[in-house]
Amino acid sequence: MNFSIVVHGGAGPRSPDDSEEEARQGCLEAARVGYRILRQGGSALDAVEACVVALEDNPRFNAGTGTTVTSECTVELDAAIMDGRGLQAGAVGALPPFANPIRIARAVMERSPHVLLVAEGARRFAESQGFSACAAEQLITPKTRARYERERLARSGTSSHGGTVGAVARDKDGHVAAATSTGGMLFKLPGRVGDTPLIGAGTYADDRGGAASATGHGEAMIRTALTTQVCRRMREGATAQEAAEAAISELSFIRGTGGVIAVDRDGRVGLAFNTERMARASIANDLETAGYL
Ligand code: GLY
Repeated sequence: MNFSIVVHGGAGPRSPDDSEEEARQGCLEAARVGYRILRQGGSALDAVEACVVALEDNPRFNAGTGTTVTSECTVELDAAIMDGRGLQAGAVGALPPFANPIRIARAVMERSPHVLLVAEGARRFAESQGFSACAAEQLITPKTRARYERERLARSGTSSHGGTVGAVARDKDGHVAAATSTGGMLFKLPGRVGDTPLIGAGTYADDRGGAASATGHGEAMIRTALTTQVCRRMREGATAQEAAEAAISELSFIRGTGGVIAVDRDGRVGLAFNTERMARASIANDLETAGYL
């Protein structure tokens, strides 16, 4: 049986303080972490979680360490994970600072009767499960603080902060999974929840079709139910690449910007984006591919 993995590290405009090589390398290293798990017979679920933890720990990306901040310079994290076996899912939204929100999303899926926990309730649940909150300063890099100050001066309030991370995988047993994690949009209003933790918008997995993870302007992903669209098309027989391209053309229809990665039930990988760049990497049949533009 084919097994494969795709990760993304955010889609958006090119930024002068962005390092293309760092982004490609960070994605490739994360993909290797997940691929090793798949090669050893591990599950797609474990693989996507491990990939996203690696990306959350990399300050180059807008998730965990490296997160962006709200208009009040506070940290509110979103993350979701979904298992294509039986459509199990767990997510957190507007979560106070924790190093690895994706692990908490998995705990919501496996150790609570709920799918999505937000804000203070999510924090209390996380601590009850043994996760430790951290200081916001631990996650906010000097680069993010400088971006925030620039944005505060410009007062546009709509700037994107590319670097949401995600992973999709298909394991040797034919199961698929998706995971996505983000700090959201720079200068978002406190309380804003994006597409990432909304099952079917930023994250979706269904063994009957495949798995998808989105990045980009969350409000547009929510309005188009983007990852649901990708997985529905794969379930109807489209390849991962065909499904990703069709969903991004729907996104363009409402002038939304972003990208999506996908793996279909046969292990074929796909990706599409309508932004200047999307950091990504995939490994299938031991063949590594990484890209940025
Ligand atoms: N796609 C990430 C966000 O809009 O929050």
